[in-house]
Amino acid sequence: MQVKELFSTLTSCHKEVLKKLQNLGKIANVIAKRGGKDLPEQKKNLEEFFHFAETSLFLHTRDEEQGLFPILGPKLCTHACGAGSMTPVEVMMQNHKDVHGAIFAIKTLLKLTEKEKDFSQPISKEITRLMNFITATMRDHIWKEDNVLYQLAEESLSEDEKEAVLRKMNSFRKESNIVCTH
Ligand SMILES: [Fe+2]
Ligand SMILES: [Fe+2]
Repeated sequence: MQVKELFSTLTSCHKEVLKKLQNLGKIANVIAKRGGKDLPEQKKNLEEFFHFAETSLFLHTRDEEQGLFPILGPKLCTHACGAGSMTPVEVMMQNHKDVHGAIFAIKTLLKLTEKEKDFSQPISKEITRLMNFITATMRDHIWKEDNVLYQLAEESLSEDEKEAVLRKMNSFRKESNIVCTH
């Protein structure tokens, strides 16, 4: 990967995430309408999303949290740092935590109900709420990164800093067998 591909690599991963979110939205609608009916089929679809979240999405999050954000963060906190408010990078990191927390909560609910043939109404309602939360949070998050954060990064990072981010991203790919599916 080269410096000129840095932001296009990150945004193309977003496109892949948006496709997966579309599927997640469809699964949430089915569960909301049919409760626990077709449960094995819905669980299979959810497993595919979890697999993506634990591989490509995990790698993308690491690119940002350990590659881009440590260099970009200090450049964006001219007036927010130390005043008690969250910086743009901190808001993005909080979104990552919230989304991965919601995925963990859904997996826990599925585990608790793995012997059940159907979801009870409160369980299907909670799973649907968590899925819709993930979809809404990630869509908003991706829009902000694509249209604000990455553009600020492109303008404010020097070529050497972009090289440093890239070196990290390349090393993550070398040390892990997880690859982005885009
Ligand atoms: Fe992000
Ligand atoms: Fe991102």
